[in-house]
Amino acid sequence: MYGPLCYDKTMKIDILTLFPKMFDGPFSESIISRAVKKGLVSIKIHNLRDWAKDKHKTVDDSPYGGGAGMVLRVNIIDKAISTLKSEIPKPKTILLTPTGKLFNQKMARSLSRIPHLILICGHYEGFDARVEKLVDEQISIGDYVLTGGELPAAVIVDTITRLLPGVVGKKESIKNESFSKDLFDYPAYTRPEKYRGMRVPKILLSGDHKKIAKWRKEQSIKTTKKLRKSLCRAD
Ligand SMILES: C[S@@+](CC[C@H](N)C(=O)[O-])C[C@H]1O[C@@H](n2cnc3c(N)ncnc32)[C@H](O)[C@@H]1O
Repeated sequence: MYGPLCYDKTMKIDILTLFPKMFDGPFSESIISRAVKKGLVSIKIHNLRDWAKDKHKTVDDSPYGGGAGMVLRVNIIDKAISTLKSEIPKPKTILLTPTGKLFNQKMARSLSRIPHLILICGHYEGFDARVEKLVDEQISIGDYVLTGGELPAAVIVDTITRLLPGVVGKKESIKNESFSKDLFDYPAYTRPEKYRGMRVPKILLSGDHKKIAKWRKEQSIKTTKKLRKSLCRAD
């Protein structure tokens, strides 16, 4: 478990998984770990096997009709969701699946305003298809297949957490970054001023903040048009 059990102001995220230890790395360092310590977010990792009844803690089975892999059982996931829902009403339940809606910054912003999220990670062959009927939303982090939903859940929690008030030190970092305004971020430079023949653009050394802001905006538009024209509405 990461963070205090404080439900009023703290955003609460519950993650259902077969591999709780996979979250030790991503949540124990840097900005996310500090957000947890400050009580801005509470992240609880639950082992789906805790809802299994038999002595072997079975949570999955082979697919009806034959075929490869193991499929997570609908009754186990239903029990897990119901337990968490009984603790705090009206959470948003999200199933991580490669066939879900593609995750982006806009979705992250809207999820960051929801007080309680439950993220469900599949593994092996995935879920019994009836699990889809138990959840509010299905999300994919990209058009590729991972071994499990743990990395997608970590990506989503990271993206959402840094948008919560007080998590990232300077508000401007979030206000001006890529995808915040249909534009990529402007290029940043720091010391040394000259490196292997490459110089920092002169304008950034000028001290003229109005001109610097104008240059940065132009660079943002230029980069976005070059790398992702579909995103750019700044003509
Ligand atoms: C090996 S995948 C199952 C793939 C599934 N049989 C299919 O072809 O769509 C196991 C689990 O990893 C997670 N997963 C894999 N790729 C993902 C992605 N791109 N986005 C979100 N979750 C993903 C899901 O939870 C999924 O149930």
